[in-house]
Amino acid sequence: MSNKIIINADIARGKINKNIYGHFAEHLGRGIYEGLWVGEDSSIPNTNGIRNDVIGALRKLNIPVLRWPGGCFADEYHWKDGVGPRENRKRMVNTHWGGVVENNHFGTHEFMMLCDLLETEPYICGNVGSGTVQEMSEWVEYMTFDGESPMANWRRENGRTEPWKLKYFGVGNENWGCGGNMRPEYYADLYRRYQTYVRDYGDNEIYRIAGGANIDDYNWTEVLMREAHHVMDGLSLHYYVHPGGFWNKGQAADFTEEEWDIVMQKTLYMDELITKHSTLMDKYDPDKRIAIIIDEWGAWYDVEPGTNPGFLYQQNTIRDAVSAAVHFNIFHKHNDRVQMANIAQMINVIQAVILTEQDKMILTPTYHVFEMYKVHQDAEKVALDIEVDTVDENGQTFPHVSASASKSKDGTLHISLCNLDKIKSAELNIDLRGMNATDISGRILTSNEMNAMNTFENPNHVVPEDFTGFTEEDNILNIELPSKSVVVLAIK
Ligand code: AHR
Repeated sequence: MSNKIIINADIARGKINKNIYGHFAEHLGRGIYEGLWVGEDSSIPNTNGIRNDVIGALRKLNIPVLRWPGGCFADEYHWKDGVGPRENRKRMVNTHWGGVVENNHFGTHEFMMLCDLLETEPYICGNVGSGTVQEMSEWVEYMTFDGESPMANWRRENGRTEPWKLKYFGVGNENWGCGGNMRPEYYADLYRRYQTYVRDYGDNEIYRIAGGANIDDYNWTEVLMREAHHVMDGLSLHYYVHPGGFWNKGQAADFTEEEWDIVMQKTLYMDELITKHSTLMDKYDPDKRIAIIIDEWGAWYDVEPGTNPGFLYQQNTIRDAVSAAVHFNIFHKHNDRVQMANIAQMINVIQAVILTEQDKMILTPTYHVFEMYKVHQDAEKVALDIEVDTVDENGQTFPHVSASASKSKDGTLHISLCNLDKIKSAELNIDLRGMNATDISGRILTSNEMNAMNTFENPNHVVPEDFTGFTEEDNILNIELPSKSVVVLAIK
């Protein structure tokens, strides 16, 4: 057997920030409208316009933070159009996503209400690309100022007396692309200027996030850090897995074995990206005060045949579940620098955790990974050494198994394991040190087919089950990890 892991449960390696289990919801396709917002008059059961089935499912994930309103939409969004009586709100065209009418019925108050219902922290992305400094500054004043001021008074007129607590604020999105097609030098100056007027009112302290690099644009990171590190708390990074490349991404559900392997290989590239961006950041920030905020990540495929190409609606299979779990293990590995990550996107868009069709809702395999992995939120990572076989197929090379371990406050050790191979099971030996395993239980997400998914006809095809494929003797665990699986063990 050549797959070996040693875990030292008594050697702590720092906290895993719960915010890496964050989400992203953009005004895009059926993400906000229908997915979350149906309006108070809808026949779909709702709470003040937000659908109850979706709230119920999302609450089970303990979502720590939610990014809104975009994405590319953020740099075209004018927040003042989305407050006040809904019947008076401006109707506009969502130019970036499908050219559909945006009626602005879901605005700041509705978003904050959603965050309250989910008990999640809001993360708002402001408009640099087509908005003014004044507009951004007034949005923060509207949301967080408690005293007498034009914006605070307007908020009260619109029904909200108390200011909201708002910590996370992004100064623009993808400013190298849809957020203004800027050069890093130009954006760095704009960032410095805009963030100056993102004020801290009273005891509300804003955590300022600068728009970071696209994938491996290390020059962007270098320039932003050089010019603006002293006025930022976080720097974003966007990276999507596309098996066929950006222009011909490949299908979400109908794919070849080679495409499975490419997705695994491209998922692991996230590790290299974080390492290299972080190393660059060390030059200006050796103490790692500034976080990498991966506020868009996921596997992004061609849209489902017959659906609006601007809506980015795709199915979700066990392949995406394994990819998500490997992403989380990578984020854990970099817990000294990665302090937030937001999956793209929450509902009906790209690697969604929930899909809806009018009044019906299903949970995707990716949803179940978020649910299984929530035990790692704010837990203490522990030392783990791993030595595993390599899968070398279809021109792709990647480790057979990915793993991570953490200890929660009550002392339970959680080990998450993924088998990245689509066919071969993995025999695994875990040498557990620093604690006595008296009670071991596990859950597994897997399937016989590599493109297994949940559908509206068969919503529970891929769901977690109890895992019993292990034996234990003298703190040595022998595990048979089925192909294409995600396992979380709980050890007391
Ligand atoms: O998530 C979809 C889009 O991908 C976002 O709007 C944009 O930021 C990124 O290019």
